[in-house]
Amino acid sequence: MPKNAGKEISVWVKAGEAARYIAERASLEQRRPEAAVVLGSGLGVLAEEVQQAAVIPYRDIPHFPRPTVEGHAGRLVVGDLCGRTVVVMQGRLHYYEGYSLAEVTFGVRVTQRLGVPVLILTNAAGGLNPAFAAGDLMLITDHINLMPDNPLRGPNDERFGPRFPSPVGVYDRGLLEVARDVARASGFTCREGVYVAVQGPSYETEAEVAWLRGLGADAVGMSTVPEAIVACHGGQRVLGVSTITNVLGRRPGQVVSHDEVLAVADRAKGRLGALLKGLLARPWPSVA
Ligand code: HPA
Repeated sequence: MPKNAGKEISVWVKAGEAARYIAERASLEQRRPEAAVVLGSGLGVLAEEVQQAAVIPYRDIPHFPRPTVEGHAGRLVVGDLCGRTVVVMQGRLHYYEGYSLAEVTFGVRVTQRLGVPVLILTNAAGGLNPAFAAGDLMLITDHINLMPDNPLRGPNDERFGPRFPSPVGVYDRGLLEVARDVARASGFTCREGVYVAVQGPSYETEAEVAWLRGLGADAVGMSTVPEAIVACHGGQRVLGVSTITNVLGRRPGQVVSHDEVLAVADRAKGRLGALLKGLLARPWPSVA
């Protein structure tokens, strides 16, 4: 009988095995990645700019969740970008696809086992703040979790972090300041605000838009918050950036289309790329 027969293998062990595999494939023995980047819709170009890249399909990585839709396989790109070693996750897993939040956040756990101190989360989001315009970038300053679950539900593994972590300040002030500077220097300003995560995949009704605004949210989307919670638990610094692909509640009967979301994300990718590359190129203040 194998020693672990009948015993569930812990996320700590699974993520450790995945991390070991990635470290070998990407020759990370001599260098530790300084940031992991999760790319939201339409941001593939950034991954293509990574130098000396090891490209590792998720399906090759031990324990990595399998894609639910064939042909939508994600991949990890590990290499150098703007003077830093980075791990880029191209292809995110969403709760609405049917994954558990443990599966959605497995990649973040792997970056923790690789010792990556900073997690950069990007997404496409609907604007709730009426001052926003489609194509704006929004730096996430805080979040509201309206997903029907929390990725930390279940037994806690103290090796990752405490039972009751506080997400206050999870969006790192120092990194936000650098991001603001980069945007300014690149000739644009970023919006800032609160991101609310819903489970999707249906978009919001008009009543839900009014309600979410009343909650104090500036943008709504179907991702990011589970990853940010797990990053907080594991002691990583987080920067979150939303591309506002559509502004909700502008006129009665207005509907959101996925094609519109993708088209606007594609148009905004130049600025998002400039923001992320500028951020990587600059020195980062130590934790506030
Ligand atoms: N709602 C939820 N998620 C989204 C939206 C939206 O309007 N746009 C892009 N992602």
